[in-house]
Amino acid sequence: MKITGTGSASPSLTVSNEMLATFLDTSDEWIQTRTGIKTRQIISTEQLKDLAAEASIIAIDEAGIKAPDLDYIICSNTVNEYVTPALSCILQGMLGANCPCIDLNGACSGFIYALDMADALFKRGNMEHILVVCAEEPTRMVDWTRRDTSVLFGDGAGAVILSKGEGFKSFKLSTISNTEALYQIRKLQDSPFVKKEEEDGALVMKGQDVFKLAVNCSLSDIKEVLRLAGIKADDVDHYLLHQANMRIIDTVMRYMGQTKRNFPHNVERYGNTSSASIPMLLDELNKKRKLKTGQKMVFSAFGAGFTTGACMLEWTI
Ligand code: ACO
Repeated sequence: MKITGTGSASPSLTVSNEMLATFLDTSDEWIQTRTGIKTRQIISTEQLKDLAAEASIIAIDEAGIKAPDLDYIICSNTVNEYVTPALSCILQGMLGANCPCIDLNGACSGFIYALDMADALFKRGNMEHILVVCAEEPTRMVDWTRRDTSVLFGDGAGAVILSKGEGFKSFKLSTISNTEALYQIRKLQDSPFVKKEEEDGALVMKGQDVFKLAVNCSLSDIKEVLRLAGIKADDVDHYLLHQANMRIIDTVMRYMGQTKRNFPHNVERYGNTSSASIPMLLDELNKKRKLKTGQKMVFSAFGAGFTTGACMLEWTI
């Protein structure tokens, strides 16, 4: 498969570190030094489904197709207002598509997992175009009285159209089960048969554990996709890493012996938008004409689970 269109959408409200410091015991200096984040876009008046639709329509237009041409919609989403139906089903109606739809919850690695699923569908042989759209609102998951998590996140949606062709060269996915370092628990309805003292809480994160895992897994995933594709670290034109934290991106960059030249980032403007972060960055680079046909790219992400994954591709637009 190959990428034939990209799109992204973000909410209208820009929230600076200074704005956060008016109601949290934090500072612009602390946030920037530890994370690189200056501002983030946060859902206020919008709905996530509208951002997902906007990003998808931009990608569909660029690919030169119409929504009914889609053979599958895979939506990477961690939370939205609906537990069921899946966001992809809601989106299908908004777009006017008529294909099968499924959501996956791979947390921040969801984009890579969705691409891998799409790759498998193309290999099955009866697909022409698949929409992968990542739509996330992590700012609805965090406790806004807690400075350790709430300052890190932003909301948004990023989409790609995948079409039959030759672009993707290698994938490496991993999962290491861990429900301690990064999780959120929600309370379910009581039934006549189950009355549990279940928690209903916000996102909990052990930041330093996530940091170490992110660096180690990203490095091993990236090295493996390079090995599988038969190329060297220096051959890659653009490394697009999950935009969680500038210090993680910088650490991976240094261990790979690379420079900021081929590690683009926008975490400073969007914060961590979970699985939407890579497709949002991809769309920004594409629309700014920073990507040239044939250039080699690596995507790499890590997320709650822990899920991690990377892939190597050649740019095909
Ligand atoms: N402002 C000011 N002080 C803060 C803030 C804040 N926003 N948050 C935490 N602190 C304080 C802590 O309370 C602590 O204070 P104490 O020493 O008095 O107890 C102090 O800062 C140091 O806290 P640490 O957690 O040790 O800070 P650390 O240097 O590890 O930085 C951070 C925290 C930025 C979260 C770091 O661990 C990190 O980058 N982790 C990676 C996690 C990440 O990026 N997750 C992204 C979301 S998950 C995902 O995308 C899969």
